[in-house]
Amino acid sequence: MDKPYQAMSGVEVLPAHFPIPGVGFLPVNAFVIKAREPVLVDTGMGIDSEDFMKALESIIDPQDLKWVWLTHDDADHTGNIQKVLEAAPGARLAANSLAVLRISTACPLPMHRVYWLNSGDSISVGDRKLTAVRPPLFDNPTTIGIYDSKSETFFSADCFGALLLSPARNADDVPEGDLAQGMISWACGDNPWVHMVEPTIFRKALDRIRQMAPKMIFSAHLPPARGKDGQFLELLARVPTSAPFVAPNQTALEQILAQMRGGS
Ligand SMILES: [Fe+2]
Ligand SMILES: [Fe+2]
Repeated sequence: MDKPYQAMSGVEVLPAHFPIPGVGFLPVNAFVIKAREPVLVDTGMGIDSEDFMKALESIIDPQDLKWVWLTHDDADHTGNIQKVLEAAPGARLAANSLAVLRISTACPLPMHRVYWLNSGDSISVGDRKLTAVRPPLFDNPTTIGIYDSKSETFFSADCFGALLLSPARNADDVPEGDLAQGMISWACGDNPWVHMVEPTIFRKALDRIRQMAPKMIFSAHLPPARGKDGQFLELLARVPTSAPFVAPNQTALEQILAQMRGGS
């Protein structure tokens, strides 16, 4: 875990960076929206368990949390779900129903605290409305990002993620070329289905975000980005016709292991 920080008034970032051998880092962010009914967006990685809870407590007393919003049930988003729900007995769990059922195969969830959402559904959190929005790229069928009506920002789950050469706190701090390459690589690797999609149809999904015109994009896998939605949408429009990602194979693993042995 890295040190939490405020990305804008009312939005705190709980950042981590997961090393990807031979590539760099994948940012892994959770967020706290300091709404009248405070919301934790995602619960970090299990490997960060203790640090994640400390980072959360440095931002808010978990007892004050009223909502935990899970963007989807991938392990880098659900790592501390049980600890968080225990520490935040007043919080309800907002998530897609399939995410809740899938998590329940590994650990029981308090169903009376669950709130099921589909894309298009909203919850009121006191001073704002949070609307579930399926982002144009998603690696899991349960994915629901969030449009926050007060800050006019989009919490985009895995969409707009990027593999980075070094950690950063702000998308503006990443050199433009590195950001473009890292975002396209991540998009291809995380969403292999996109190469089966007609680019004109994919553009329609991107247009929905263009119409939303979020002031900031809070991706789980990118430093916070202000005023970059147009640039990012143009980048993603290139993804269906980009070269498909090929995951490293055993030969690559042996090279990595040899490098690690050489470096130790
Ligand atoms: Fe994911
Ligand atoms: Fe993720």
